[in-house]
Amino acid sequence: MVREFSKVGVVGMGTMGAGIAEVLARSGLEVVGVEHDEAGVERARGHLERSTSRAVGKGKLTPEEAETLLGRIATGTDLDALADCELVIEAIPERMELKSELFARLDALLPADAVLATNTSALSVTELATGTSRPSKVVGLHWFNPAPVMGLVEVVRTVVTDPSVVEDVQALVQRVGKTGATAGDRAGFIANALLFGYLNNALRMYESKYASREDIDAAMRFGTGHPMGPLALLDLIGLDSAYEILETMYTQSRDHRHAPAPLLKQYVSAGLLGRKTGRGLYTYAAPDSPEVVADDSTPIASSASPRPVQRIGVIGTGTMASGIVEVCAKSGYDVVFRARGDDKVAAVQKKIEGSLDKALQRGKVSEEDRAATLGRITGTTSLDDLADCDLVIEAVVEDLAIKKALFSALDEIVKPGAILATTTSSLPVIECAQATSRPADVVGMHWFNPATLMKLVEVVPTVTTADDVVATVLEVCKKTKKHPVLCGDRAGFIVNALLFPYLNDAVKMLEAHYATIDDIDFAMTKGCGHPMGPFALMDVVGLDVTLAIQRTLFEEFREPGDVPAPMLEHLVRAGYLGRKTGRGFRDYSRR
Ligand code: CAA
Repeated sequence: MVREFSKVGVVGMGTMGAGIAEVLARSGLEVVGVEHDEAGVERARGHLERSTSRAVGKGKLTPEEAETLLGRIATGTDLDALADCELVIEAIPERMELKSELFARLDALLPADAVLATNTSALSVTELATGTSRPSKVVGLHWFNPAPVMGLVEVVRTVVTDPSVVEDVQALVQRVGKTGATAGDRAGFIANALLFGYLNNALRMYESKYASREDIDAAMRFGTGHPMGPLALLDLIGLDSAYEILETMYTQSRDHRHAPAPLLKQYVSAGLLGRKTGRGLYTYAAPDSPEVVADDSTPIASSASPRPVQRIGVIGTGTMASGIVEVCAKSGYDVVFRARGDDKVAAVQKKIEGSLDKALQRGKVSEEDRAATLGRITGTTSLDDLADCDLVIEAVVEDLAIKKALFSALDEIVKPGAILATTTSSLPVIECAQATSRPADVVGMHWFNPATLMKLVEVVPTVTTADDVVATVLEVCKKTKKHPVLCGDRAGFIVNALLFPYLNDAVKMLEAHYATIDDIDFAMTKGCGHPMGPFALMDVVGLDVTLAIQRTLFEEFREPGDVPAPMLEHLVRAGYLGRKTGRGFRDYSRR
Protein backbone atom coordinates (compact mmCIF):
# COMPACT_ATOMS: atom_id res chain seq x y z
CA MET A 1 0.00 0.00 0.00
CA VAL A 2 1.30 3.38 -0.94
CA ARG A 3 1.74 5.69 2.00
CA GLU A 4 -0.20 8.94 1.83
CA PHE A 5 1.69 11.78 3.44
CA SER A 6 -0.47 14.45 5.04
CA LYS A 7 1.97 16.59 6.99
CA VAL A 8 5.23 17.59 5.39
CA GLY A 9 8.06 19.76 6.66
CA VAL A 10 10.19 22.02 4.52
CA VAL A 11 13.47 23.29 5.94
CA GLY A 12 14.93 26.29 4.17
CA MET A 13 12.21 28.55 2.82
CA GLY A 14 14.21 30.39 0.17
CA THR A 15 12.99 30.53 -3.43
CA MET A 16 12.94 26.75 -3.75
CA GLY A 17 11.68 25.87 -0.27
CA ALA A 18 8.87 28.40 -0.43
CA GLY A 19 7.95 27.17 -3.92
CA ILE A 20 7.85 23.56 -2.72
CA ALA A 21 5.73 24.54 0.30
CA GLU A 22 3.31 26.35 -2.02
CA VAL A 23 2.94 23.29 -4.28
CA LEU A 24 2.34 20.94 -1.36
CA ALA A 25 -0.19 23.26 0.31
CA ARG A 26 -2.00 23.80 -3.00
CA SER A 27 -2.75 20.06 -3.01
CA GLY A 28 -4.17 20.10 0.49
CA LEU A 29 -1.14 19.00 2.49
CA GLU A 30 -0.33 20.55 5.82
CA VAL A 31 3.09 22.16 5.61
CA VAL A 32 5.53 23.29 8.29
CA GLY A 33 8.20 25.60 6.92
CA VAL A 34 11.30 26.32 8.97
CA GLU A 35 13.82 29.10 8.39
CA HIS A 36 16.89 29.86 10.46
CA ASP A 37 15.80 33.34 11.59
CA GLU A 38 12.83 35.69 11.66
CA ALA A 39 14.10 37.65 8.67
CA GLY A 40 14.09 34.41 6.68
CA VAL A 41 10.52 33.68 7.78
CA GLU A 42 9.51 37.18 6.71
CA ARG A 43 11.15 36.74 3.31
CA ALA A 44 9.47 33.38 2.85
CA ARG A 45 6.01 34.77 3.63
CA GLY A 46 6.64 37.65 1.25
CA HIS A 47 7.69 35.21 -1.45
CA LEU A 48 4.62 33.01 -0.87
CA GLU A 49 2.30 35.99 -1.00
CA ARG A 50 3.82 37.33 -4.21
CA SER A 51 3.78 33.94 -5.87
CA THR A 52 0.19 33.12 -4.93
CA SER A 53 -1.07 36.56 -5.93
CA ARG A 54 0.68 36.06 -9.29
CA ALA A 55 -1.23 32.78 -9.59
CA VAL A 56 -4.47 34.61 -8.68
CA GLY A 57 -3.68 37.34 -11.22
CA LYS A 58 -3.19 34.67 -13.89
CA GLY A 59 -6.42 32.90 -12.96
CA LYS A 60 -4.63 29.82 -11.64
CA LEU A 61 -6.09 30.21 -8.12
CA THR A 62 -9.10 32.03 -6.71
CA PRO A 63 -8.37 34.55 -3.92
CA GLU A 64 -10.07 32.15 -1.48
CA GLU A 65 -7.96 29.21 -2.61
CA ALA A 66 -4.85 31.35 -2.22
CA GLU A 67 -5.86 32.25 1.32
CA THR A 68 -6.60 28.63 2.25
CA LEU A 69 -3.29 27.61 0.69
CA LEU A 70 -1.36 30.15 2.76
CA GLY A 71 -3.28 29.06 5.85
CA ARG A 72 -1.97 25.51 5.39
CA ILE A 73 1.65 26.66 5.67
CA ALA A 74 2.90 27.23 9.22
CA THR A 75 6.23 29.02 9.35
CA GLY A 76 8.75 29.44 12.13
CA THR A 77 12.35 29.10 13.18
CA ASP A 78 12.07 26.05 15.45
CA LEU A 79 12.97 22.64 14.04
CA ASP A 80 10.96 20.98 16.84
CA ALA A 81 7.81 22.04 14.98
CA LEU A 82 8.66 19.27 12.51
CA ALA A 83 8.50 16.52 15.13
CA ASP A 84 5.28 14.95 13.83
CA CYS A 85 5.95 15.36 10.10
CA GLU A 86 5.89 12.19 8.01
CA LEU A 87 8.23 13.64 5.43
CA VAL A 88 10.71 16.50 5.69
CA ILE A 89 12.23 18.07 2.61
CA GLU A 90 15.35 20.16 3.06
CA ALA A 91 16.05 23.04 0.68
CA ILE A 92 18.91 24.79 2.45
CA PRO A 93 22.10 26.02 0.72
CA GLU A 94 24.06 23.52 -1.35
CA ARG A 95 26.74 22.75 1.22
CA MET A 96 27.34 19.22 2.40
CA GLU A 97 28.34 20.16 5.95
CA LEU A 98 25.13 22.18 6.43
CA LYS A 99 22.92 19.47 5.01
CA SER A 100 24.62 16.68 6.99
CA GLU A 101 24.25 18.58 10.22
CA LEU A 102 20.59 19.27 9.52
CA PHE A 103 19.92 15.62 8.64
CA ALA A 104 21.57 14.51 11.89
CA ARG A 105 19.24 16.80 13.84
CA LEU A 106 16.17 15.72 11.90
CA ASP A 107 17.16 12.07 12.30
CA ALA A 108 17.19 12.50 16.07
CA LEU A 109 13.91 14.43 16.08
CA LEU A 110 11.60 12.58 13.71
CA PRO A 111 9.76 9.26 14.16
CA ALA A 112 11.64 6.24 12.83
CA ASP A 113 9.33 5.83 9.85
CA ALA A 114 9.55 9.47 8.68
CA VAL A 115 11.15 10.04 5.29
CA LEU A 116 13.96 12.53 4.84
CA ALA A 117 14.29 14.15 1.45
CA THR A 118 16.88 16.51 0.08
CA ASN A 119 16.32 19.01 -2.70
CA THR A 120 20.03 18.96 -3.47
CA SER A 121 20.84 19.43 -7.13
CA ALA A 122 24.26 17.89 -7.15
CA LEU A 123 25.48 16.73 -3.74
CA SER A 124 25.62 13.02 -2.94
CA VAL A 125 22.29 11.77 -1.62
CA THR A 126 24.05 8.55 -0.65
CA GLU A 127 26.48 10.42 1.59
CA LEU A 128 23.62 12.25 3.26
CA ALA A 129 21.61 9.04 3.68
CA THR A 130 24.40 6.98 5.16
CA GLY A 131 25.11 9.70 7.72
CA THR A 132 21.69 9.03 9.30
CA SER A 133 20.31 6.05 11.21
CA ARG A 134 17.71 5.54 8.42
CA PRO A 135 19.57 5.40 5.10
CA SER A 136 16.77 3.40 3.48
CA LYS A 137 14.35 6.23 4.16
CA VAL A 138 16.38 9.01 2.59
CA VAL A 139 15.73 10.14 -0.97
CA GLY A 140 16.50 13.02 -3.26
CA LEU A 141 13.50 15.08 -4.25
CA HIS A 142 14.79 17.57 -6.72
CA TRP A 143 12.43 20.36 -7.78
CA PHE A 144 12.75 22.94 -10.51
CA ASN A 145 12.51 26.67 -10.18
CA PRO A 146 9.84 28.08 -10.12
CA ALA A 147 8.45 25.02 -8.32
CA PRO A 148 4.78 26.04 -8.69
CA VAL A 149 5.20 26.16 -12.47
CA MET A 150 7.69 23.52 -13.56
CA GLY A 151 6.20 20.06 -14.07
CA LEU A 152 9.14 17.82 -13.14
CA VAL A 153 10.50 16.48 -9.89
CA GLU A 154 13.51 14.17 -10.01
CA VAL A 155 13.19 11.39 -7.45
CA VAL A 156 16.67 10.23 -6.58
CA ARG A 157 17.18 6.77 -5.18
CA THR A 158 20.46 5.62 -3.76
CA VAL A 159 21.73 2.04 -3.62
CA VAL A 160 20.33 1.81 -0.08
CA THR A 161 16.93 3.45 -0.59
CA ASP A 162 13.96 1.20 0.17
CA PRO A 163 12.01 0.84 -3.13
CA SER A 164 8.73 1.30 -1.26
CA VAL A 165 9.92 4.74 -0.07
CA VAL A 166 10.60 5.68 -3.69
CA GLU A 167 7.07 4.56 -4.57
CA ASP A 168 5.56 6.58 -1.71
CA VAL A 169 7.41 9.70 -2.72
CA GLN A 170 6.54 9.18 -6.40
CA ALA A 171 2.88 8.98 -5.39
CA LEU A 172 3.21 12.27 -3.53
CA VAL A 173 4.83 13.91 -6.54
CA GLN A 174 1.92 12.76 -8.68
CA ARG A 175 -0.62 13.90 -6.11
CA VAL A 176 0.76 17.45 -6.18
CA GLY A 177 0.39 17.53 -9.96
CA LYS A 178 4.00 16.93 -10.97
CA THR A 179 5.66 14.09 -12.81
CA GLY A 180 8.50 12.26 -11.15
CA ALA A 181 11.51 10.99 -13.06
CA THR A 182 13.49 8.46 -11.07
CA ALA A 183 17.24 8.84 -11.30
CA GLY A 184 20.33 7.35 -9.71
CA ASP A 185 22.61 9.35 -7.43
CA ARG A 186 24.93 11.22 -9.77
CA ALA A 187 25.89 14.91 -9.56
CA GLY A 188 23.31 16.95 -11.43
CA PHE A 189 20.97 13.97 -11.91
CA ILE A 190 19.40 14.19 -15.37
CA ALA A 191 18.40 17.78 -16.02
CA ASN A 192 21.12 19.73 -14.24
CA ALA A 193 23.86 17.46 -15.55
CA LEU A 194 22.83 18.60 -19.02
CA LEU A 195 21.75 22.12 -18.17
CA PHE A 196 24.75 23.36 -16.20
CA GLY A 197 27.43 22.63 -18.80
CA TYR A 198 25.33 24.76 -21.13
CA LEU A 199 24.81 27.54 -18.55
CA ASN A 200 28.51 27.64 -17.72
CA ASN A 201 29.39 27.78 -21.40
CA ALA A 202 27.06 30.78 -21.78
CA LEU A 203 28.71 32.45 -18.79
CA ARG A 204 32.13 31.96 -20.34
CA MET A 205 30.84 33.42 -23.58
CA TYR A 206 29.60 36.48 -21.71
CA GLU A 207 32.74 36.73 -19.59
CA SER A 208 34.92 36.78 -22.71
CA LYS A 209 32.76 39.61 -24.13
CA TYR A 210 32.00 37.50 -27.16
CA ALA A 211 28.42 38.75 -27.06
CA SER A 212 26.27 40.83 -24.72
CA ARG A 213 24.16 39.11 -22.05
CA GLU A 214 21.02 40.38 -23.86
CA ASP A 215 22.15 38.88 -27.15
CA ILE A 216 23.18 35.55 -25.65
CA ASP A 217 19.78 35.25 -24.00
CA ALA A 218 17.81 36.45 -27.02
CA ALA A 219 19.74 34.04 -29.26
CA MET A 220 18.70 31.05 -27.18
CA ARG A 221 15.11 32.20 -26.77
CA PHE A 222 14.53 33.03 -30.41
CA GLY A 223 16.87 30.41 -31.87
CA THR A 224 15.72 27.41 -29.83
CA GLY A 225 12.42 28.43 -28.25
CA HIS A 226 13.73 28.13 -24.69
CA PRO A 227 11.51 30.11 -22.33
CA MET A 228 14.52 31.97 -20.93
CA GLY A 229 18.04 32.66 -22.02
CA PRO A 230 20.84 31.01 -20.01
CA LEU A 231 21.99 34.14 -18.18
CA ALA A 232 18.50 35.17 -17.11
CA LEU A 233 17.99 31.57 -16.01
CA LEU A 234 21.15 31.64 -13.90
CA ASP A 235 19.77 34.72 -12.17
CA LEU A 236 16.51 32.88 -11.53
CA ILE A 237 18.28 29.79 -10.18
CA GLY A 238 20.50 31.94 -7.96
CA LEU A 239 24.17 32.50 -8.73
CA ASP A 240 25.21 31.05 -5.36
CA SER A 241 23.29 27.83 -6.03
CA ALA A 242 24.65 27.71 -9.57
CA TYR A 243 28.19 28.09 -8.26
CA GLU A 244 27.77 25.28 -5.74
CA ILE A 245 26.15 22.99 -8.29
CA LEU A 246 28.93 23.52 -10.82
CA GLU A 247 31.58 23.11 -8.17
CA THR A 248 30.10 19.76 -7.11
CA MET A 249 29.67 18.62 -10.68
CA TYR A 250 33.27 19.53 -11.42
CA THR A 251 34.50 17.67 -8.34
CA GLN A 252 32.74 14.55 -9.56
CA SER A 253 33.32 14.82 -13.31
CA ARG A 254 36.69 16.66 -13.41
CA ASP A 255 35.30 17.98 -16.68
CA HIS A 256 36.75 21.43 -17.26
CA ARG A 257 33.43 22.51 -18.76
CA HIS A 258 31.88 22.24 -15.29
CA ALA A 259 34.53 24.38 -13.57
CA PRO A 260 32.52 27.45 -12.56
CA ALA A 261 33.32 30.46 -14.75
CA PRO A 262 35.41 32.89 -12.65
CA LEU A 263 32.79 35.57 -13.23
CA LEU A 264 30.28 33.51 -11.27
CA LYS A 265 32.52 33.48 -8.23
CA GLN A 266 32.91 37.26 -8.45
CA TYR A 267 29.17 37.85 -8.42
CA VAL A 268 28.69 35.45 -5.53
CA SER A 269 31.50 37.06 -3.51
CA ALA A 270 29.92 40.47 -4.14
CA GLY A 271 26.55 39.23 -2.85
CA LEU A 272 24.93 39.73 -6.26
CA LEU A 273 23.07 36.44 -6.24
CA GLY A 274 20.53 36.97 -8.98
CA ARG A 275 16.87 37.81 -9.03
CA LYS A 276 16.37 37.06 -5.35
CA THR A 277 18.75 39.87 -4.33
CA GLY A 278 17.58 42.23 -7.08
CA ARG A 279 20.95 42.05 -8.83
CA GLY A 280 22.92 39.35 -10.54
CA LEU A 281 23.97 39.18 -14.15
CA TYR A 282 21.06 41.57 -14.74
CA THR A 283 19.60 44.23 -12.46
CA TYR A 284 15.96 43.91 -11.38
CA ALA A 285 13.40 46.48 -10.26
CA ALA A 286 13.47 44.97 -6.74
CA PRO A 287 14.56 41.77 -5.00
CA ASP A 288 12.48 38.85 -6.34
CA SER A 289 11.08 40.95 -9.18
CA PRO A 290 11.17 39.54 -12.72
CA GLU A 291 11.40 43.06 -14.17
CA VAL A 292 14.84 43.79 -15.63
CA VAL A 293 16.02 47.40 -15.48
CA ALA A 294 18.89 49.05 -17.36
CA ASP A 295 22.33 49.18 -15.73
CA ASP A 296 25.96 49.87 -16.65
CA SER A 297 26.18 46.70 -18.74
CA THR A 298 23.16 47.50 -20.91
CA PRO A 299 24.48 47.69 -24.49
CA ILE A 300 24.50 51.12 -26.13
CA ALA A 301 23.31 51.28 -29.74
CA SER A 302 26.04 52.06 -32.29
CA SER A 303 26.04 55.60 -33.65
CA ALA A 304 26.95 54.49 -37.20
CA SER A 305 24.34 55.39 -39.85
CA PRO A 306 23.01 52.55 -41.94
CA ARG A 307 23.55 52.57 -45.70
CA PRO A 308 20.36 52.78 -47.77
CA VAL A 309 18.99 49.40 -48.86
CA GLN A 310 16.17 48.96 -51.36
CA ARG A 311 17.28 46.06 -53.52
CA ILE A 312 18.45 42.79 -52.01
CA GLY A 313 20.08 39.95 -53.90
CA VAL A 314 19.83 36.36 -52.65
CA ILE A 315 21.96 33.55 -54.02
CA GLY A 316 20.76 29.99 -53.71
CA THR A 317 17.53 28.06 -54.06
CA GLY A 318 17.44 25.94 -50.92
CA THR A 319 14.99 26.24 -48.03
CA MET A 320 17.05 28.99 -46.44
CA ALA A 321 17.43 31.05 -49.60
CA SER A 322 13.75 30.86 -50.55
CA GLY A 323 12.74 31.76 -46.99
CA ILE A 324 15.02 34.81 -47.02
CA VAL A 325 13.66 35.89 -50.41
CA GLU A 326 10.10 35.65 -49.08
CA VAL A 327 10.84 37.49 -45.82
CA CYS A 328 12.68 40.35 -47.55
CA ALA A 329 10.06 40.77 -50.27
CA LYS A 330 7.24 40.70 -47.70
CA SER A 331 8.99 43.55 -45.87
CA GLY A 332 9.00 45.78 -48.94
CA TYR A 333 12.44 45.12 -50.42
CA ASP A 334 12.90 44.42 -54.12
CA VAL A 335 14.51 41.01 -54.26
CA VAL A 336 16.40 39.34 -57.06
CA PHE A 337 17.45 35.77 -56.46
CA ARG A 338 19.92 33.83 -58.48
CA ALA A 339 19.48 30.13 -59.25
CA ARG A 340 21.67 27.76 -61.24
CA GLY A 341 18.95 26.92 -63.80
CA ASP A 342 15.53 28.04 -65.04
CA ASP A 343 13.87 25.02 -63.45
CA LYS A 344 15.24 26.12 -60.06
CA VAL A 345 14.01 29.68 -60.61
CA ALA A 346 10.53 28.28 -61.25
CA ALA A 347 10.74 25.95 -58.24
CA VAL A 348 11.57 28.82 -55.88
CA GLN A 349 8.77 30.99 -57.30
CA LYS A 350 6.34 28.10 -56.82
CA LYS A 351 7.51 27.47 -53.28
CA ILE A 352 7.08 31.10 -52.30
CA GLU A 353 3.66 31.25 -53.94
CA GLY A 354 2.66 28.16 -51.95
CA SER A 355 3.92 29.67 -48.73
CA LEU A 356 2.07 32.94 -49.37
CA ASP A 357 -1.10 31.02 -50.25
CA LYS A 358 -0.91 29.30 -46.88
CA ALA A 359 -0.38 32.66 -45.17
CA LEU A 360 -3.37 34.04 -47.06
CA GLN A 361 -5.58 31.13 -45.98
CA ARG A 362 -4.54 31.71 -42.38
CA GLY A 363 -5.32 35.40 -42.67
CA LYS A 364 -1.65 36.37 -42.13
CA VAL A 365 -1.42 38.35 -45.38
CA SER A 366 -4.01 40.07 -47.54
CA GLU A 367 -4.61 39.33 -51.22
CA GLU A 368 -2.96 42.66 -52.11
CA ASP A 369 0.10 41.99 -49.94
CA ARG A 370 0.48 38.58 -51.53
CA ALA A 371 0.42 40.06 -55.02
CA ALA A 372 2.73 42.94 -54.05
CA THR A 373 5.22 40.55 -52.44
CA LEU A 374 5.34 38.34 -55.53
CA GLY A 375 5.67 41.45 -57.69
CA ARG A 376 8.83 42.43 -55.83
CA ILE A 377 10.57 39.10 -56.53
CA THR A 378 12.61 38.41 -59.66
CA GLY A 379 14.46 35.20 -60.41
CA THR A 380 17.56 35.00 -62.58
CA THR A 381 20.26 32.57 -63.57
CA SER A 382 22.86 35.29 -64.02
CA LEU A 383 24.95 36.76 -61.21
CA ASP A 384 25.26 39.92 -63.32
CA ASP A 385 21.63 40.73 -62.50
CA LEU A 386 22.71 41.34 -58.91
CA ALA A 387 25.00 44.20 -59.94
CA ASP A 388 22.81 47.00 -58.60
CA CYS A 389 21.81 45.34 -55.33
CA ASP A 390 22.51 47.21 -52.08
CA LEU A 391 22.87 43.99 -50.12
CA VAL A 392 23.58 40.48 -51.40
CA ILE A 393 22.93 37.50 -49.13
CA GLU A 394 24.42 34.19 -50.17
CA ALA A 395 22.82 30.96 -48.99
CA VAL A 396 24.62 28.31 -51.02
CA VAL A 397 26.15 25.02 -49.90
CA GLU A 398 28.44 25.05 -46.82
CA ASP A 399 31.63 24.58 -48.80
CA LEU A 400 34.36 27.13 -48.23
CA ALA A 401 35.91 26.86 -51.70
CA ILE A 402 32.51 27.42 -53.35
CA LYS A 403 31.70 30.37 -51.09
CA LYS A 404 35.09 31.98 -51.62
CA ALA A 405 34.76 31.70 -55.40
CA LEU A 406 31.29 33.20 -55.16
CA PHE A 407 32.45 36.15 -53.03
CA SER A 408 35.27 36.81 -55.42
CA ALA A 409 32.81 36.83 -58.36
CA LEU A 410 30.35 39.07 -56.49
CA ASP A 411 33.18 41.46 -55.69
CA GLU A 412 33.70 41.93 -59.44
CA ILE A 413 30.02 42.30 -60.27
CA VAL A 414 28.19 44.08 -57.45
CA LYS A 415 28.35 47.88 -57.29
CA PRO A 416 30.81 49.53 -54.88
CA GLY A 417 29.34 50.25 -51.45
CA ALA A 418 27.05 47.22 -51.59
CA ILE A 419 27.18 44.81 -48.67
CA LEU A 420 27.98 41.15 -49.16
CA ALA A 421 26.58 38.79 -46.52
CA THR A 422 27.01 35.09 -45.95
CA THR A 423 24.49 32.88 -44.17
CA THR A 424 27.14 30.34 -43.22
CA SER A 425 26.54 28.60 -39.92
CA SER A 426 29.95 27.03 -39.57
CA LEU A 427 32.56 28.57 -41.86
CA PRO A 428 34.69 31.61 -40.97
CA VAL A 429 33.12 34.79 -42.36
CA ILE A 430 36.58 36.33 -42.59
CA GLU A 431 37.53 33.78 -45.28
CA CYS A 432 34.67 35.08 -47.46
CA ALA A 433 35.71 38.67 -46.70
CA GLN A 434 39.31 38.01 -47.71
CA ALA A 435 38.16 36.62 -51.05
CA THR A 436 37.03 40.14 -51.97
CA SER A 437 38.72 43.50 -52.40
CA ARG A 438 36.19 44.97 -49.91
CA PRO A 439 36.50 43.03 -46.66
CA ALA A 440 34.98 45.96 -44.74
CA ASP A 441 31.70 45.36 -46.62
CA VAL A 442 31.43 41.66 -45.79
CA VAL A 443 29.43 40.37 -42.83
CA GLY A 444 27.80 37.18 -41.58
CA MET A 445 24.03 36.96 -41.40
CA HIS A 446 23.04 33.62 -39.96
CA TRP A 447 19.32 33.02 -40.33
CA PHE A 448 17.40 30.17 -38.76
CA ASN A 449 15.25 27.64 -40.50
CA PRO A 450 12.45 28.20 -41.49
CA ALA A 451 13.42 31.83 -42.09
CA THR A 452 9.78 32.84 -42.46
CA LEU A 453 9.02 31.77 -38.88
CA MET A 454 12.21 31.99 -36.86
CA LYS A 455 12.80 35.45 -35.46
CA LEU A 456 16.52 35.20 -34.88
CA VAL A 457 19.38 36.38 -37.08
CA GLU A 458 22.95 36.15 -35.80
CA VAL A 459 24.85 39.11 -37.22
CA VAL A 460 28.56 38.37 -37.44
CA PRO A 461 31.01 41.17 -38.09
CA THR A 462 34.59 40.06 -38.74
CA VAL A 463 37.65 41.97 -37.55
CA THR A 464 37.45 43.93 -40.81
CA THR A 465 33.72 44.70 -41.05
CA ALA A 466 32.83 48.41 -41.07
CA ASP A 467 30.48 49.76 -38.38
CA ASP A 468 27.98 51.12 -40.90
CA VAL A 469 27.78 47.68 -42.51
CA VAL A 470 26.72 46.23 -39.16
CA ALA A 471 24.28 49.11 -38.67
CA THR A 472 22.78 48.42 -42.12
CA VAL A 473 22.29 44.73 -41.50
CA LEU A 474 20.72 45.44 -38.11
CA GLU A 475 18.34 47.85 -39.83
CA VAL A 476 17.39 45.23 -42.43
CA CYS A 477 16.71 42.76 -39.59
CA LYS A 478 14.50 45.32 -37.91
CA LYS A 479 12.57 46.01 -41.10
CA THR A 480 12.08 42.28 -41.71
CA LYS A 481 10.84 41.93 -38.08
CA LYS A 482 13.74 39.71 -37.07
CA HIS A 483 15.60 39.89 -33.80
CA PRO A 484 19.29 40.39 -34.56
CA VAL A 485 22.04 39.46 -32.13
CA LEU A 486 25.68 40.41 -32.54
CA CYS A 487 28.47 37.93 -32.04
CA GLY A 488 32.05 37.28 -33.08
CA ASP A 489 33.27 35.27 -36.04
CA ARG A 490 33.91 31.88 -34.51
CA ALA A 491 32.47 28.42 -34.93
CA GLY A 492 28.86 28.02 -33.90
CA PHE A 493 28.29 31.73 -33.23
CA ILE A 494 26.00 31.81 -30.19
CA VAL A 495 23.23 29.27 -30.69
CA ASN A 496 25.09 26.32 -32.16
CA ALA A 497 28.05 26.80 -29.82
CA LEU A 498 25.72 26.55 -26.82
CA LEU A 499 23.18 24.07 -28.13
CA PHE A 500 25.20 21.29 -29.73
CA PRO A 501 27.57 20.49 -26.83
CA TYR A 502 24.44 20.13 -24.70
CA LEU A 503 22.91 17.76 -27.26
CA ASN A 504 26.15 15.80 -27.41
CA ASP A 505 26.15 15.54 -23.60
CA ALA A 506 22.65 14.07 -23.75
CA VAL A 507 23.94 11.35 -26.10
CA LYS A 508 26.80 10.65 -23.70
CA MET A 509 24.33 10.36 -20.81
CA LEU A 510 22.31 7.85 -22.83
CA GLU A 511 25.47 5.98 -23.77
CA ALA A 512 26.37 5.74 -20.08
CA HIS A 513 22.98 4.11 -19.40
CA TYR A 514 22.20 6.70 -16.75
CA ALA A 515 18.79 7.56 -18.21
CA THR A 516 16.63 6.64 -21.17
CA ILE A 517 15.81 8.75 -24.22
CA ASP A 518 12.31 9.33 -22.88
CA ASP A 519 13.52 10.25 -19.37
CA ILE A 520 16.04 12.75 -20.73
CA ASP A 521 13.63 14.37 -23.17
CA PHE A 522 11.01 14.49 -20.46
CA ALA A 523 13.38 16.02 -17.90
CA MET A 524 14.36 18.85 -20.24
CA THR A 525 10.85 19.65 -21.41
CA LYS A 526 9.11 19.43 -18.03
CA GLY A 527 11.99 20.58 -15.84
CA CYS A 528 13.29 23.44 -17.95
CA GLY A 529 10.38 24.24 -20.26
CA HIS A 530 12.29 23.44 -23.45
CA PRO A 531 9.95 22.99 -26.41
CA MET A 532 11.67 19.72 -27.33
CA GLY A 533 13.96 17.33 -25.51
CA PRO A 534 17.47 16.82 -26.92
CA PHE A 535 16.71 13.54 -28.70
CA ALA A 536 13.51 14.79 -30.30
CA LEU A 537 15.45 17.83 -31.44
CA MET A 538 18.39 15.87 -32.88
CA ASP A 539 15.95 13.67 -34.80
CA VAL A 540 14.47 16.81 -36.36
CA VAL A 541 17.78 18.57 -37.03
CA GLY A 542 19.32 15.39 -38.42
CA LEU A 543 21.99 13.32 -36.71
CA ASP A 544 24.39 13.93 -39.60
CA VAL A 545 23.97 17.69 -39.22
CA THR A 546 24.34 17.40 -35.43
CA LEU A 547 27.54 15.40 -35.83
CA ALA A 548 28.98 17.78 -38.43
CA ILE A 549 28.35 20.82 -36.22
CA GLN A 550 29.75 19.10 -33.15
CA ARG A 551 32.88 18.15 -35.11
CA THR A 552 33.32 21.75 -36.26
CA LEU A 553 32.99 22.98 -32.67
CA PHE A 554 35.50 20.44 -31.47
CA GLU A 555 37.95 21.39 -34.20
CA GLU A 556 37.61 25.08 -33.34
CA PHE A 557 37.78 24.93 -29.54
CA ARG A 558 39.59 21.58 -29.00
CA GLU A 559 37.60 21.10 -25.81
CA PRO A 560 38.03 17.44 -24.83
CA GLY A 561 34.51 17.26 -23.40
CA ASP A 562 33.12 18.23 -26.79
CA VAL A 563 34.41 15.20 -28.70
CA PRO A 564 31.36 13.87 -30.57
CA ALA A 565 29.73 10.98 -28.69
CA PRO A 566 30.67 7.64 -30.28
CA MET A 567 26.99 6.66 -30.34
CA LEU A 568 26.24 9.65 -32.55
CA GLU A 569 29.01 8.62 -34.96
CA HIS A 570 27.67 5.05 -35.07
CA LEU A 571 24.07 6.06 -35.70
CA VAL A 572 25.15 8.33 -38.54
CA ARG A 573 27.28 5.57 -40.03
CA ALA A 574 24.28 3.23 -39.84
CA GLY A 575 22.22 5.75 -41.82
CA TYR A 576 19.93 6.52 -38.87
CA LEU A 577 19.81 10.25 -39.50
CA GLY A 578 16.56 11.15 -37.77
CA ARG A 579 13.06 11.82 -39.02
CA LYS A 580 14.25 12.30 -42.59
CA THR A 581 15.32 8.63 -42.80
CA GLY A 582 12.50 7.31 -40.63
CA ARG A 583 14.89 6.44 -37.84
CA GLY A 584 17.28 8.33 -35.62
CA PHE A 585 17.29 8.02 -31.86
CA ARG A 586 13.66 7.02 -32.18
CA ASP A 587 12.11 4.82 -34.85
CA TYR A 588 9.43 6.69 -36.83
CA SER A 589 8.73 4.00 -39.38
CA ARG A 590 6.14 2.25 -37.21
CA ARG A 591 4.35 5.38 -35.98
N1 CAA B 1 1.13 28.88 -9.27
C1 CAA B 1 0.64 28.33 -10.39
N2 CAA B 1 0.90 28.80 -11.63
C2 CAA B 1 1.70 29.89 -11.73
C3 CAA B 1 2.21 30.54 -10.58
C4 CAA B 1 1.91 29.98 -9.31
N3 CAA B 1 2.37 30.49 -8.20
N4 CAA B 1 2.95 31.60 -10.99
C5 CAA B 1 2.89 31.61 -12.34
N5 CAA B 1 2.13 30.58 -12.77
C6 CAA B 1 1.84 30.21 -14.16
C7 CAA B 1 1.30 31.37 -14.96
O1 CAA B 1 -0.08 31.43 -14.82
C8 CAA B 1 1.71 31.00 -16.35
O2 CAA B 1 0.83 30.00 -16.85
P1 CAA B 1 0.22 30.10 -18.33
O3 CAA B 1 1.40 29.94 -19.24
O4 CAA B 1 -0.75 28.96 -18.38
O5 CAA B 1 -0.41 31.46 -18.37
C9 CAA B 1 3.05 30.28 -16.17
O6 CAA B 1 3.06 29.86 -14.80
C10 CAA B 1 4.23 31.18 -16.44
O7 CAA B 1 4.27 32.21 -15.48
P2 CAA B 1 4.43 33.76 -15.76
O8 CAA B 1 3.49 34.22 -16.81
O9 CAA B 1 4.31 34.40 -14.46
O10 CAA B 1 5.91 33.92 -16.24
P3 CAA B 1 6.58 33.70 -17.66
O11 CAA B 1 5.64 33.32 -18.73
O12 CAA B 1 7.45 34.86 -17.82
O13 CAA B 1 7.45 32.38 -17.39
C11 CAA B 1 9.04 31.00 -16.29
C12 CAA B 1 8.38 32.37 -16.37
C13 CAA B 1 8.03 29.94 -15.85
C14 CAA B 1 10.14 31.11 -15.27
C15 CAA B 1 9.58 30.60 -17.70
O14 CAA B 1 10.40 31.60 -18.17
C16 CAA B 1 10.36 29.28 -17.67
O15 CAA B 1 9.80 28.21 -17.77
N6 CAA B 1 11.71 29.38 -17.57
C17 CAA B 1 12.59 28.24 -17.49
C18 CAA B 1 12.78 27.88 -16.05
C19 CAA B 1 13.73 26.73 -15.86
O16 CAA B 1 14.45 26.31 -16.73
N7 CAA B 1 13.75 26.19 -14.64
C20 CAA B 1 14.63 25.14 -14.24
C21 CAA B 1 15.93 25.69 -13.76
S1 CAA B 1 16.99 24.43 -13.15
C22 CAA B 1 16.45 24.21 -11.58
O17 CAA B 1 15.62 24.88 -11.08
C23 CAA B 1 17.05 23.10 -10.87
C24 CAA B 1 18.18 23.46 -10.04
O18 CAA B 1 18.62 22.63 -9.31
C25 CAA B 1 18.81 24.76 -10.10
